[in-house]
Amino acid sequence: MSPRHFLRDDDLTPAEQSAVLDLAARMKADRFAHRPLAGPRSVAVLFDKQSLRTRISFDAGIAELGGHPLVVDTQVTHFGRGETLADAGRVLSRYVAAIVLRTHGDDRIAEVAAGASVPVVNALTDGFHPCQLLADLLTVRERCGGTAGRTLAYLGDGANNMAHSYLLAGATAGMHVRVAGPAGFAPDPAVVGRAAEIAAGTGGSVNVLTDPAEAVKGADVVATDTWTSMGQEDDGLDRITPFRPYQVNADLLGQAAPDAIVLHCLPAHRGEEITDEVLDGPCSAVFDQAENRLHAQKALLTFLLEAATAAPDAAAP
Ligand code: CP
Ligand code: NVA
Repeated sequence: MSPRHFLRDDDLTPAEQSAVLDLAARMKADRFAHRPLAGPRSVAVLFDKQSLRTRISFDAGIAELGGHPLVVDTQVTHFGRGETLADAGRVLSRYVAAIVLRTHGDDRIAEVAAGASVPVVNALTDGFHPCQLLADLLTVRERCGGTAGRTLAYLGDGANNMAHSYLLAGATAGMHVRVAGPAGFAPDPAVVGRAAEIAAGTGGSVNVLTDPAEAVKGADVVATDTWTSMGQEDDGLDRITPFRPYQVNADLLGQAAPDAIVLHCLPAHRGEEITDEVLDGPCSAVFDQAENRLHAQKALLTFLLEAATAAPDAAAP
């Protein structure tokens, strides 16, 4: 039996996602009371790409759980060079209780997971950013009183990791998810199809649009992200001009629900995808959202490690 991994948002069922968010809220309320990694058990946190929030929130969170974080930039290791990623996952599983990885293609994290006998967690890939979505959903719960039935409009690059994760995780949480971006920047149809399938079971819905006003109309949550994700800096596409109508500014926000909140996973490019006025304004939940990475990831690690304990075969090398 394989360990439970968290490679995509739909690796948690609606009930499991809800349980992780419940636990995250409890951990936030009593921050230093939960120590499931006491021993300490170690967790490897590996970065093929840059990070600020993910790196520090996992490092601090693992320590708060009583564990020992091993935060490593893979460029200074043999990871992915001279041995297969599956072999690396297999070896690391002999040392640590879980592997957290930020990398490029989703095929890379899948290969690590294929070799690993401990849980593998996606800390951002080109395709998905599921830990971020747990933090976002915790924030929506806090600010909007729940997720089910709420409408979330994501504006910007519909083809990036955040758009895909909003579709899958939002549908799992019973939300109505609208993704709006310029032509040529639409989400992967396979992800849209999977999100629609999930939404059919949770009472949510998914819509892919090009009109930003239609997307934000009456929305409870307005979310955006950079127009140029890591690794896309030299892709030759114009990532400014076609995106300008999707900027989250006061005019656009005025068309959302009167008490709408604004999310941005950060780092924000002020004056591009979001204005100062919105990011620093009363609707912004962005800095709570950033804090919630810590609580959500602590809960996720606890959930995955409990699942591994419940299925002892999973830990066998
Ligand atoms: N939101 C997020 O993942 O930030 P970092 O890239 O700084 O980790
Ligand atoms: N879409 C962005 C998210 C950064 C947290 C990126 O991949 O660079």
